[in-house]
Amino acid sequence: MQVLASKIIVAGTGGTIAGRAAASADNIGYQAGSLSVGDVLQTLPRQAMDRLVEQGVYTSWEDVAQVDSKDMGPQVWALVLARLRQWLADLEVRAVVLTHGTDTIEETAWLLSTLLETHKPVVMTCAMRPATAWVPDGPQNLLDALAVACDPQARGVCVVASGVVHAAQWVQKVHPYQLDAFSSGDGGALARVEEGQVRWFWKNEEKDHFSIDINREPAIEFIVDNRSPWPRVEVVFSHAGATGHGVDALCEPREGFEPLRGLVVAGTGNGTVHEAMDQALRRAHGRGVLVWRCSRCVNGQVVHAGGSLDTRAKDSPPALWPAVALPPFKARLAMALTLMGQRV
Ligand code: SIN
Repeated sequence: MQVLASKIIVAGTGGTIAGRAAASADNIGYQAGSLSVGDVLQTLPRQAMDRLVEQGVYTSWEDVAQVDSKDMGPQVWALVLARLRQWLADLEVRAVVLTHGTDTIEETAWLLSTLLETHKPVVMTCAMRPATAWVPDGPQNLLDALAVACDPQARGVCVVASGVVHAAQWVQKVHPYQLDAFSSGDGGALARVEEGQVRWFWKNEEKDHFSIDINREPAIEFIVDNRSPWPRVEVVFSHAGATGHGVDALCEPREGFEPLRGLVVAGTGNGTVHEAMDQALRRAHGRGVLVWRCSRCVNGQVVHAGGSLDTRAKDSPPALWPAVALPPFKARLAMALTLMGQRV
């Protein structure tokens, strides 16, 4: 019989789940990341924690960071990645629950799932209402995340919110206010948490994962060593009336700015790009900037993306920019990791 390790680390990075408002009736005007994750854990009912103990599980907690996730970036990712690697290598640790702001949780989840090759669960969770709200959603989400962390079928990085378990590959925040703010779109949810039980639809590893030749080890080394700056990759959107002026401006060298290394263009529909923007992208490519394309549509991905992704800007631009089957901000991370893997 497999004996599961007994320790679950609850690690905090901030967000609304650790947010505090001046008035309990205020669900919007609060300071994200003001409480320790230890304080958030304290809000869970005693009986719920006792049940964990009855299952032979004990928790310990640590604040890795306390930020509003709109400001998430390389420095916090370096800390999170380094700590996760230590925890996951510890035989006593069964799983990690990682709290995070909702605004960029999908980016951190994708980054971690791409870089960490782990079977141990890394269960991310969050909240739409601050901890001080009359009816906060954070405690329920945290309880659900602990249920997933304890579940023997849980694997790898996922996001738990509003009773739904999402794969890092698919999850996106799709609503700025309502409690059920996340969707896995076409991919569908991995599971639901019902009365503390996890009902699985998929195993995380069975999910259709986007794969790209990221040189993981150099990229991890780059991030954990907190080398900065990251290769500069920007996202631009194609739209009716686009001019491409923004692309030209991004390519201009500016004192104190890293030279632009890559552009992800979030195209219309199936990844189409306005002709004026396309011309600007060709000028950017001529300056050595790598260009990838994805779709600005919330659901789905570019169909017949075709071929492998160029990972270096070639001499002549392709007839069609290589397409990546990810939403724009995850595609941006994918390109940055690819460039990191080349540079080290
Ligand atoms: C944040 O992303 O840190 C603030 C918003 C939230 O968590 O809902």
